[in-house]
Amino acid sequence: MNYLLVLGREPKLSLVELEALFGSKNVKAFFAKQGSKDSNLAIVKTDKLDFSRLGGSIKAGQILTEPVQDYLSKLPEGKITLGVSDYSPRANKKATWALALKYKNLLKRHGRNVRLIPNNDGAALTSAASHHNQLGEKLNHIEILKYQNDIAISIGTQNITAYAKRDRERPARDAFVGMLPPKLAQILINIATGEFEKQNQTKPIVLDPFCGTGVVLQEAMLMGYSAYGTDLSEKMIKYSGRNLEWLTDRTSGLQKPDAPKFYLEEGDATKHSWQSAKVGCIASEIYLGHPLSAPPGSLKLKEFQQSTKELLLSFLKNISSQIESSATLCLATPAWLRPNGSYEGVNILDEIENLGYNKLQYKHATTQDLIYYREGQIVARQLLILRKQ
Ligand SMILES: C[S@@+](CC[C@H](N)C(=O)[O-])C[C@H]1O[C@@H](n2cnc3c(N)ncnc32)[C@H](O)[C@@H]1O
Repeated sequence: MNYLLVLGREPKLSLVELEALFGSKNVKAFFAKQGSKDSNLAIVKTDKLDFSRLGGSIKAGQILTEPVQDYLSKLPEGKITLGVSDYSPRANKKATWALALKYKNLLKRHGRNVRLIPNNDGAALTSAASHHNQLGEKLNHIEILKYQNDIAISIGTQNITAYAKRDRERPARDAFVGMLPPKLAQILINIATGEFEKQNQTKPIVLDPFCGTGVVLQEAMLMGYSAYGTDLSEKMIKYSGRNLEWLTDRTSGLQKPDAPKFYLEEGDATKHSWQSAKVGCIASEIYLGHPLSAPPGSLKLKEFQQSTKELLLSFLKNISSQIESSATLCLATPAWLRPNGSYEGVNILDEIENLGYNKLQYKHATTQDLIYYREGQIVARQLLILRKQ
């Protein structure tokens, strides 16, 4: 089956997430225009697509192999809520609305009662509009996603309400450590576990050796993986414990006897011996340094780069003999804002081969593209993706 995906704010990261899960040859990228803004799309070939686990895509739809009229004429009984989003380069608001009216009339001729969702913001509905109208999420709440001659039926939109809830309502938070956005945590986990998913192997345990307040562990458990967190700080281990207990209490799927479990212990990632049976793949946001209110000057930058490099290399050296060959590590590392608006991270390429790792390459992105930041953010996150030789 083919799926059309609308990519999020960092399309290159989204594409790498898709490549990791479905294989580079099954992911094709397209660049379309939506109103005045570039919007980026992918077509993915796969037998199954669990949209809720994707952190980098905002909408997904299954591409129809039959004419859309045939599909619409077979919808189950009941009132229909319908939205149309056209992501083709030359799409516009007026033409999309005309298309939506055409589908509505077609359904009316079949005696169906239809509520159309207006595409007020352009040729495509915003993900907020699709989500609030439960398009693709509820029976007969349909969104038609169009790209050139491909027509897809939505299977879901990024659940902004659920993300915001688990981001804001977690009981133990720490302003100094900061919190990894759940979407980025999902991307890290998908990249780290992709090889297992592609081969349909038993689910590995996800290890986060810098677990902080436990966002990676939380997202891993929601994606069906048991999670193993270690951190230098006793306080962070307590915080992760409180957050994961809270998560388990409010998630019925995590209360079943065979549900994913979590394990926590204090440990310095540069020296720790992890329980070997619990180390599968590694998804982590390493220590990003002190929060900064202005871009560092050149000397400070060198200092930050040096201490991050030392931490990363000692950690990689320590864990190298404790993981299986071919285990994947996806690490969010700091990159600092420079006066020209670019970001500069740490470079450990010369050292990693000697430590027994290869850097993974992707078709749709280079290392420099794998940066996640918000406008003006001083310390961004750069993904480092390694495989044990
Ligand atoms: C950026 S935070 C991780 C935040 C986490 N992703 C979250 O969402 O809460 C980095 C964590 O690394 C921990 N840390 C720093 N140095 C460490 C070391 N050598 N070994 C293990 N943990 C360390 C800090 O205590 C901190 O909790």
